[in-house]
Amino acid sequence: MVSYSQIKASNVLITDGPRVSVFVGGTSGIGNYTARALVSTGASVRVYIIGRESSEARTRAFIEELNAINPKAEIIWIAGEVSLLAEVTRVCGIIKEKESRIDLLFLTTGYAPVGAREDTAEGIEITQTLAYYSRMLFIVQLLPLLHEAENPRVISVLGGGLERTSGIILDDMELRKPSNFGPINGQIHCGTMNTVFMNKLARENPEVTFFHSWPGWVNTGNVNRGYEPNSKWAWFVWLFLEHIIELFGFSYEESGQRYLFQCTSAAYGGQGTPWNGKIGVNTMNETGKGLFLVNYKCDCTPNSKVVAELRQKAEDKVWDYTQEIFKRYM
Ligand SMILES: NC(=O)c1ccc[n+]([C@@H]2O[C@H](COP(=O)([O-])OP(=O)(O)OC[C@H]3O[C@@H](n4cnc5c(N)ncnc54)[C@H](OP(=O)(O)O)[C@@H]3O)[C@@H](O)[C@H]2O)c1
Repeated sequence: MVSYSQIKASNVLITDGPRVSVFVGGTSGIGNYTARALVSTGASVRVYIIGRESSEARTRAFIEELNAINPKAEIIWIAGEVSLLAEVTRVCGIIKEKESRIDLLFLTTGYAPVGAREDTAEGIEITQTLAYYSRMLFIVQLLPLLHEAENPRVISVLGGGLERTSGIILDDMELRKPSNFGPINGQIHCGTMNTVFMNKLARENPEVTFFHSWPGWVNTGNVNRGYEPNSKWAWFVWLFLEHIIELFGFSYEESGQRYLFQCTSAAYGGQGTPWNGKIGVNTMNETGKGLFLVNYKCDCTPNSKVVAELRQKAEDKVWDYTQEIFKRYM
């Protein structure tokens, strides 16, 4: 485990960036804490926060706070309904017009499918698009700008290291059969899809460092999303789960600092804030750039055997399926 004191000692050395970052999910939770930690370094940074219109007022107050913490930081709000892939493309178009490079893309949208299935107007189940399709489309659309950065990083916060060979239901990729749909299947399926898709992206884009990261417990209110009031799940969360997460989870501050470390440290991929500790290994069991599966302790869990098997059995299918959906929105 990378200790919190090591994390803070590393983050205190940050003086220069990432200069341009895009937070999709920075309106609340881990994205929000990480944006705050980044701006609090005092560096001259430009931070895009992308979120739905209903969260704009709350986010504008957050942006005012960030401007007060660090007057050198420029925070830009872009309203976008990121559960819709057409909106992802529109938002990426705005960023591409404004920027010639992006150093960091930080993705945190989503929650577990604990309620009834709800499809977006584009016909994709909402938790799957937030946790997988929308995130991957952001990456694909912004890759040209990431290539222009010196040490570009993409971080998808979900369940890195928890993927399973049987995690993807290949003959029901959108979990349409009721027996395939549910909180555990849904989370493992989307998490495994994240790893499989990003593993291929990492091989094809060796100058970019990719992370699929598992945050552990952080009491962001994430477990309160998506359920029906008075359902068994609602009672379980209210009586039990939220208290356990509050008691044993990371504080907001520590979570933000741990993710700032992943955004910046040379522990992953070699470039970044100097690091004398244990060097992380990617899914190829190498220390260079690639896909890093990182757990809540900030340790790498390459899960190499499972990832190699997924590459053989699932990668082409996941890739083709996803591209087939994306081609309508590119
Ligand atoms: N927190 C944990 O303990 C934990 C543990 C394991 C995995 N995870 C996963 O890690 C990721 C980040 O977690 P978190 O705790 O930071 O989540 P969070 O605080 O609940 O934030 C999730 C983000 O998703 C956005 N979002 C939710 N529903 C949306 C919708 N229908 N349309 C558009 N945007 C929507 C939220 O936007 P608004 O601000 O507009 O609501 C917010 O920016 C999530 O995928 C979560 O499932 C979390």
